Amino acid sequence: MFNRRDTLKSLLVSGAAFAMPRSLRSFAATAPSPALQTLKIPPIDEGELQLGVRHFDLTLQQGVSHFFPDRETPTWGINGNYLGPTLRMREGDKVAFAIHNALDENSILHWHGMDVPAAVDGGPHQNILPGGTWSPNFKVKQAAASCWYHSHAMHKSGPQVYRGLAGMLIVDDQLSTRVELPNNYGVDDIPLIIQDRLFDENAHFVYPERMQDRMVGVRGDTLLVNGTLNPGVQATSEGIRLRILNACNARNLNLALSHGEAFWQIATDCGLLEAPVELRQLVLSPGERAEILIDTRGSTPFQLISGPVTIAQSPYYGLLTDLIREIDSEHFDILTIVPTGQQKTSPLNIPKTLRKIDWLPAQAANTTRTMRLQMGSGPGNGGGQGGGPQTRRQFGGWGGGNHSINGRKMDMNYIEATIIAGTTEIWEIFNETPIIHPFHIHKVHFQILERNGEPALPSERGFKDTVNVPPQGHVKIIAHFKGPGDPLHPYMFHCHILEHEDHGMMGQFILI
Ligand code: C2O
Ligand code: CU
Ligand code: CU
Repeated sequence: MFNRRDTLKSLLVSGAAFAMPRSLRSFAATAPSPALQTLKIPPIDEGELQLGVRHFDLTLQQGVSHFFPDRETPTWGINGNYLGPTLRMREGDKVAFAIHNALDENSILHWHGMDVPAAVDGGPHQNILPGGTWSPNFKVKQAAASCWYHSHAMHKSGPQVYRGLAGMLIVDDQLSTRVELPNNYGVDDIPLIIQDRLFDENAHFVYPERMQDRMVGVRGDTLLVNGTLNPGVQATSEGIRLRILNACNARNLNLALSHGEAFWQIATDCGLLEAPVELRQLVLSPGERAEILIDTRGSTPFQLISGPVTIAQSPYYGLLTDLIREIDSEHFDILTIVPTGQQKTSPLNIPKTLRKIDWLPAQAANTTRTMRLQMGSGPGNGGGQGGGPQTRRQFGGWGGGNHSINGRKMDMNYIEATIIAGTTEIWEIFNETPIIHPFHIHKVHFQILERNGEPALPSERGFKDTVNVPPQGHVKIIAHFKGPGDPLHPYMFHCHILEHEDHGMMGQFILI
């Protein structure tokens, strides 16, 4: 039997000159896997209440993490070594931040999933220089949800989030504290920030920047959950709630439980569903969130896992598609759940209903726009303009390294859409490439009208801010664009594969 290290060596020796190395095998893949570690829970930060305003003090800083025993990994964090605290606020709260940049490059934090005025949204225009401080404030005007915050620096979101500039942000409201759901943070209500990383032989992060990483996004072979390698958690109650955030730069997750039993999804990106949805698997693409309930009675440990993501696979052939097929077929253990012996006597108490959602009918739209996601049009792209379907091209296959929307790469001086505050719009998003793109719109919480002509999946029938658009597929969403308008500050929309965002698959709209 080969061990992995030998296989790696022989692959490198024999195939390297011709074939692209498909995935980088890293330190973690060759080192003995460490024992189960207790899942780290990011500390809660509720700010400090002064004269009716919650003040949050956040510092972007360098640090050192110990993912592997006896190894140090240089990382970045917010008020810590890696990732940031879970910011917690309530609908109706006034919040204010002082965000200090103690790094030696520019950065910015964006409130992903938060409906806030454009000037405080934390996009690439609101840059914090090294040594600088940014002090946005806003009023929380939205329902309970598991949101997040992360770097949105122009051309640098990918590497900055990879090093650790991200955290969770939980909004509570009257309803969410009344509904009967586990809500003891870190005990039966557990945040899971899932990320994949590559490590070198010193256990330092590797951020590869080969052409293929630029094309399919940076993916690692090792999962970290809240910055914990090989994490486990004890479940002392009958059921637990997981607030799951796919914070990977580019990897889709296909969540399931190792024993094959069902779980219940209770929330999408922007809040509770109308009623829990019973599922056996759930695809989450980068940027998306889901809250799920899991039955934790019994005494046998089991895992939250991620299996192959078949919806990410296009029927076309080409280097890019082959690569995607391979990396989206990988299996990961995400979290080991150790029940502590609550007995199964009756069915788990799952609420029948959660909240009422007002559905926007297609007729409510004042305007329809088209967004075309593109990755160049060279031969072997696999797209409509590349080789025909089922044609295996020998050359090309990387789409020329270009990422764009409607034929244009992100340009800070170009506004794709001017939207009148108070109107409702349908956006038809066409994916003209052979790989999946999670499409995110800042500020608005949208509803999915259809994907490839089919109604939204039951797991997506709630408010969303990010939606996966399958290869060669299209998704139609509808959103109400509330004010306030601000002609001077644009909002972003983009692919949430951070390397695609950084390399041009992003555009801007203003609300007037
Ligand atoms: Cu989560 Cu514009 O990003
Ligand atoms: Cu956002
Ligand atoms: Cu993309």
